[in-house]
Amino acid sequence: MDVVGPRYESDLIHTRPTRFLKVWDLPVRVFHWLLVTSIAVASVTGWLLPASWLQIHLIAGTVIGCLVLWRIVWGFTGTRYSRFRSFIFSARSTVTHLKDLMEGKAQREAGHNPLGALMVFALLGSINAIVLTGVAVLGGQFKQGPLKAFVSFAGAMNYREIHSVAAVVLLVLVGGHLAGVIFESWRTRENLATAMVTGMKSDGFAHEAPMAQSRTGVAVSVSALLAVLLIPGAYALTSLSPFGIAALPRNATWETECGSCHMAFHPSLLPVKSWAAIMSGLSQHFGEDASLDAAAKKEITDYLVSHSAESWDSMAANRLRDVDPARPLEITATRFWLHMHNDIAPAVFSSKAIGAKQNCSACHQDAASGMFAPQEISIPQEKTE
Ligand code: HEC
Ligand code: HEC
Repeated sequence: MDVVGPRYESDLIHTRPTRFLKVWDLPVRVFHWLLVTSIAVASVTGWLLPASWLQIHLIAGTVIGCLVLWRIVWGFTGTRYSRFRSFIFSARSTVTHLKDLMEGKAQREAGHNPLGALMVFALLGSINAIVLTGVAVLGGQFKQGPLKAFVSFAGAMNYREIHSVAAVVLLVLVGGHLAGVIFESWRTRENLATAMVTGMKSDGFAHEAPMAQSRTGVAVSVSALLAVLLIPGAYALTSLSPFGIAALPRNATWETECGSCHMAFHPSLLPVKSWAAIMSGLSQHFGEDASLDAAAKKEITDYLVSHSAESWDSMAANRLRDVDPARPLEITATRFWLHMHNDIAPAVFSSKAIGAKQNCSACHQDAASGMFAPQEISIPQEKTE
């Protein structure tokens, strides 16, 4: 006859199975891994890929902004270890934790330990700074997004510095966070990265408490309210007219006279001095005679001068204002133009689909508007058969 049950008494004592406790609720885990993914996308598109990837960078940034906002709501409404309250430690307990760690007697926490908690707040803070300055850069440099009516190009260059520095800070913090997770996983023999996937940790914590109910209804209502306020608000701001960009009136004389041999270059692409010099030398215009009668010449000169690079706040106008003193009549001789296009082989410009580097609109779908948005760039491909 088989005996069912423990054969030896010692089995009863020593094989108490490990209990696994739920620590991270599903929303926090989903938040964590979505944030990891979108920060990876934003980093690659921001640091490694050319400006034409801006749209993907913006989508990643928007997702990050929404995730962080949502996490703040959940920090007040989630289950126990998701709430900020559960991981705000006093300075003293943080120092004690550090000392205990160094003496090798620190206990395990179910949620974040004091150092991990500090890291969470540092990460959220730097991500916030990156998102907010990113929106300011987008507004001032590209005249896009909700701040486009409020930020100048010069302002955007300052925000850009902060945006880049904060991004480096975030990278360093992420490194510290990973080091902390690896160290703590080694020290406690529990894979904390897996715990952020399953939500479970083995028991035996210093301060263990029940998970507690989340206030999901409140979280959903607050998020819905934020969405109802923020989405139309952002749209309304985005539809304002951009800072320092006045509507360009059409001028038929300019379009026909200056658009017959090459595209009619937007007046904001050169400064007043250059336009004046071009207009007073039309009889010898880059080897061509482009002379005009006095009335047409005056009309076009006035038009170009009153909408010149000095009077516009687009990135192109700000950069192209800075002409090469030796060749002040050429947009394509400016340092900025050469820098932006130095990866493009001469054969690409002379290809049948483009013709010449002066044919801006072949690659810039918005060349006529003078804006030259990164999202509007695509180089037409030669058909090869
Ligand atoms: C008869 C033909 C012709 C007409 C008309 C003409 N251009 Fe040009 N333009 C040229 C040529 C040729 C060049 C040299 C670059 C090229 O090969 O396209 C040039 C170059 C330029 C450039 C420098 C482009 C660069 O490389 O940065 C500017 C600016 C310019 N033209 C402005 C004007 C303006 C303003 C008018 C109207 C008043 C005008 N052009 C009318 C033939 C013309
Ligand atoms: C063969 C295609 C091509 C032509 C023609 C061309 N560009 Fe570009 N341009 C590009 C590409 C590609 C970039 C993006 C470079 C990068 O981000 O590294 C660019 C970048 C720029 C930028 C910066 C835009 C931004 O948002 O980053 C400006 C301004 C610009 N071009 C102006 C001009 C002007 C003005 C002309 C005509 C005189 C011109 N381009 C002709 C392909 C072209």
